[in-house]
Amino acid sequence: MILRSERPSDVAGIRTVHEAAFDSKDEAGLVDALRRDGSLQCSLVATDHEQILGHVASSLVRVEHQDESIVAGLAPVGVLPDHQRRGIGAALMEAIIEASREDGLAGLVLLGDPAYYGRFGFRPASDFNLRSHYTDGPAFQAMALRVDALSVCHGHVHYDPLFDELG
Ligand SMILES: CC(C)(COP(=O)(O)OP(=O)(O)OC[C@H]1O[C@@H](n2cnc3c(N)ncnc32)[C@H](O)[C@@H]1OP(=O)(O)O)[C@@H](O)C(=O)NCCC(=O)NCCS
Repeated sequence: MILRSERPSDVAGIRTVHEAAFDSKDEAGLVDALRRDGSLQCSLVATDHEQILGHVASSLVRVEHQDESIVAGLAPVGVLPDHQRRGIGAALMEAIIEASREDGLAGLVLLGDPAYYGRFGFRPASDFNLRSHYTDGPAFQAMALRVDALSVCHGHVHYDPLFDELG
């Protein structure tokens, strides 16, 4: 398996992954729309013999009271159903965390199951005084990419408006 940044020729394969992984086509459409707007901060694929088996993306978010965007929202992550539970999701997660750190970002946020994302170092975003309009529950999580990097951030996190179109 190879992990790498997406290439123009990967667009259809990335769509296929998310359409198969999720119940709706919304996530696949979100990736296309973010790409069209130039809003993908990081977009990584996991491939085997040039077949795209998994994909993860991030886009910058705006944190209340912060002029500069130094946090990215991680979404979506998907793996072809027949290839799940083989570590591809974990490899994509580790890779995008490292890439985000190398990009100099302060932190990452995401919405998802704490049982899955906790293993990568995500904690309830409320620990960092970060809130989401989408939920006030434990699904909204955050991780600092350097020690204390998120201490300057607090308040509401605003995703790209394209996320509002997700069901
Ligand atoms: C979530 C997802 C990307 C994980 O990819 P993966 O390659 O299967 O993950 P890994 O092989 O690295 O890890 C598998 C482990 O994660 C856990 N896991 C997978 N999906 C999970 C979920 N939604 N919630 C909690 N745990 C989950 C399983 O317990 C599994 O461990 P096990 O094999 O010991 O039972 C993949 O299952 C997927 O595409 N799901 C559908 C789309 C989705 O829900 N994406 C996340 C929301 S944005």
